[in-house]
Amino acid sequence: MKTLSLIIDCDPGVDDAVALMLAFGSSELELLAVTTVGGNVPLAKTTRNARMLRQIAGREDVPVHAGADRPLRRKPAGAGEFHGEEGLGFMTPFTPAKGVADGHGVDALINAVMAREPETVALAVLGPMTNLALALRREPTLARRLGPVAIMGGARSEGGNITASAEFNVWADPEAADEVMRSGCRITMFGLDATHQVRATEERIAAVAGIGTPKGDTAAAMMRFSQKVEREIVGWDAPPVHDVCPVAWLLKPELFELKPCRIAVEFQSELTRGHTAVEFRVDPAEAPHRWAVSADADGVFALITEAVR
Ligand code: BDR
Ligand code: CA
Repeated sequence: MKTLSLIIDCDPGVDDAVALMLAFGSSELELLAVTTVGGNVPLAKTTRNARMLRQIAGREDVPVHAGADRPLRRKPAGAGEFHGEEGLGFMTPFTPAKGVADGHGVDALINAVMAREPETVALAVLGPMTNLALALRREPTLARRLGPVAIMGGARSEGGNITASAEFNVWADPEAADEVMRSGCRITMFGLDATHQVRATEERIAAVAGIGTPKGDTAAAMMRFSQKVEREIVGWDAPPVHDVCPVAWLLKPELFELKPCRIAVEFQSELTRGHTAVEFRVDPAEAPHRWAVSADADGVFALITEAVR
């Protein structure tokens, strides 16, 4: 039985791809749409990649809408070194049979949410927050109309992964992140403090690969690529699989510990561009945001392994 209606906004990206395999394989989710944004690689590639992943998962019932091709004010900046030039690691690109759905991703997001009862549609944002910021500008009531908004972005205790201060998704479009944080959406943020706890160890990758399905093989291939680049660039054997966290939380909230907070985004200084100032000294009853402080990684990987079966 479906229990949760969800839109995924993403920029695949190897970890976005694992998150999509988790979502595509979770029968308790009603996936209303996947919207794409320029981020890890340009929009044309993130959109093609989302369609490739949809085809591999056999989920052509889910429309893929292309969204914003650039940040609100900044120049597009990619993260190809972590995802491969085409965005999906070692995977050779192919032209998916099913095309891009009509309508801009921002309109698709607004329409899907406004067509449903208030607070019944959840949103997972796995890339720069450009699409959501544009949607909120166009339809300000969206903030209260949306159900939970689960975002992969930001860094506090862990420091940044693109600069000393900032995590990639927030850094790539800090103005969008600022607008989203101030919007009144019910936001739960999965920054590096939590996502760095969800690592693809050799054993966990082998368990996913061992399922022997196209979804499992694809998710495992993404994590293997991450393992290679993180070894080379950062020196880690077990790469974090950031983008699965928001989706895993929507499926099974008890896997994460959250703290009420207020999050502000730095966008004026170049030095600390994209820094997330996470303030815990707030009245929990009035706190506008929640920040994930810990994750049950075994539980998250159990979900992935089950979803790709
Ligand atoms: C985030 O940045 C991207 O490179 C990943 O896909 C993830 O969404 C991690 O900082
Ligand atoms: Ca991403």
